[in-house]
Amino acid sequence: MELILTNARIVSMQAGSAGYQPSEPMNVLIQNGQMTAISTKAIDTDAKRIDCSGKLVTPGLIDCHTHLIYAGNRANEFEMRLQGMPYQTIAAQGGGIISTVKATRRASVDELVELALPRLDGLLKSGVTSVEVKSGYGLSLNDEVKMLRAAKALENHRRVKITTTLLAAHALPPEYIGRADDYIEHVCQTIIPQVAEEKLATSVDVFCESVGFNLAQTERVFQCAQTHGLQIKGHTEQLSNLGGTALTARYQGLSADHIEYLDENGVKALAESGTVATLLPGAFYFLRETQKPPVATLRAYQVPMALATDMNPGTSPFADLTLMMNMGCTLFGLTPEETLRGVTVHAAKALGFAETRGQVATGFDADLAIWNIDHPADLSYQVGVPRLHARIVDGAFCHD
Ligand code: NIG
Ligand code: FE
Repeated sequence: MELILTNARIVSMQAGSAGYQPSEPMNVLIQNGQMTAISTKAIDTDAKRIDCSGKLVTPGLIDCHTHLIYAGNRANEFEMRLQGMPYQTIAAQGGGIISTVKATRRASVDELVELALPRLDGLLKSGVTSVEVKSGYGLSLNDEVKMLRAAKALENHRRVKITTTLLAAHALPPEYIGRADDYIEHVCQTIIPQVAEEKLATSVDVFCESVGFNLAQTERVFQCAQTHGLQIKGHTEQLSNLGGTALTARYQGLSADHIEYLDENGVKALAESGTVATLLPGAFYFLRETQKPPVATLRAYQVPMALATDMNPGTSPFADLTLMMNMGCTLFGLTPEETLRGVTVHAAKALGFAETRGQVATGFDADLAIWNIDHPADLSYQVGVPRLHARIVDGAFCHD
């Protein structure tokens, strides 16, 4: 299982501005799924050679926040929103997340996989090698487990690395209306222990919001997740400021996601805990939100910013991570260097893989994207123009 890339102009995304500058042509030796030597000098090896002919090689892109597994379609709600009905009102009337829950509950694992593959293919075409997938449209033990199984099964169909997150606290299921605390107890006493026991997810997420769960309920879920050795993530400050981001930071969360309504104290909390701020411009754009995440403050406090698709049927039906890079620049004022860090090093950190993914460096996983472009800014600049030459996942070359 050896491979050598030659004539690779590497954008390593290692720390410092040099990490964003394409290198002179280099050789990269890959053994057992890892990069073991990177050099301008010839490397003596019998490994299979792949001539990159001066193409740019970046870390494989990492989509660190998606809801890729679901059934049903919410185009009708898109039309309702365009006629002026707010997302929160649609949700309150039993639409929104709950309409996707109804369709997802009716689907089998195999059906969910079939429905997700075209979305996954969109992501892979944009150079993605790792994808985080959340549950959250099942909202019962069996249906959450079914979603996580479907997410994991994607690895049997495509070359991609899937990380799963339990988002049982995404919305209140219809059978618990008026009993949110009871549902949270069910999540903590039944769903989390079972998912941890079967190792179906490595982290737990909560939608901390007026249309989701309050701060006390969120904390109850975080405490429980911690007892079961699961990492913590939050959907926080998306539509209002409840303090969920600071809570996520207090529990040493991997990331706080959305954060349009985050204030300076919340940013400070992220900086102190080393929690990643994950920006989701697709949802901002699709909901026609006007409150932007506090990018200048996040920069001032040197909080690592990740960028992800949030691919989901209600608020971000976009299966292209480079489109999010473009939106990160045009909507949030990020630089193309920040967006590339956001889908590589910082996205890796948001998944707990800072030491093994998201950089072209010896000792890191051989997850790479090879591009027909001259400068990395091109990834944020163009949309819809195919630029990907090939991906490499754990050292396996994929010409998909
Ligand atoms: O990340 N914010 C909560 N969850 C999703 C939306 C899910 C949906 O509307 O189906 C999000 O935006
Ligand atoms: Fe989300």
